Amino acid sequence: MKKKIYFILIAIVILIQFYPMDKPTVTIDNPNDLLATTTVPDNISTLLKNACYDCHSNESTFPWYSNVAPVKWMLYDHIYEAREELNFSNWNSLETDDKADLLDDISSMVLEGEMPLKGYTILHSEANLSEEDRELIATWADEMLDLIYE
Ligand code: HEC
Repeated sequence: MKKKIYFILIAIVILIQFYPMDKPTVTIDNPNDLLATTTVPDNISTLLKNACYDCHSNESTFPWYSNVAPVKWMLYDHIYEAREELNFSNWNSLETDDKADLLDDISSMVLEGEMPLKGYTILHSEANLSEEDRELIATWADEMLDLIYE
């Protein structure tokens, strides 16, 4: 009986792997990338790369477990959604008002602990931002916002 249940479970896990879902594309050379087109202090660019770029850029990395269903369903979805809202790889092609809105959101969401998404930091300790990191990112975003409307 027990053996049968294990067999069924394993069969399900194998079968769901065949459910088709397009993997988000990855491009490393992005001429409109924030970090390629804007002067960003090194400490901030490291924080953004470590804590945001996997979801909010075209440079997502995919560790092995990220390609295994059902994890991949959630993960790919998050990446598609995150890129749609804010994609640092397209930064320089955005309208000024959109940049301003996003900077405002970045500052508040990071300060309030809403970003990076919970769950992500369990497997990515480098994305576990300290209070100080959060303030650094927020201050940087606020300053960028001021520069836009100078
Ligand atoms: C694990 C994936 C993931 C990571 C890592 C992540 N985000 Fe997000 N982010 C999302 C998703 C999904 C959404 C859209 C849904 C939502 O708002 O919760 C989002 C939405 C946002 C938005 C809202 C955009 C808008 O105006 O609607 C901002 C701003 C943002 N993220 C900033 C950040 C910043 C800054 C970091 C790094 C400190 C970060 N995120 C890290 C997945 C992620």
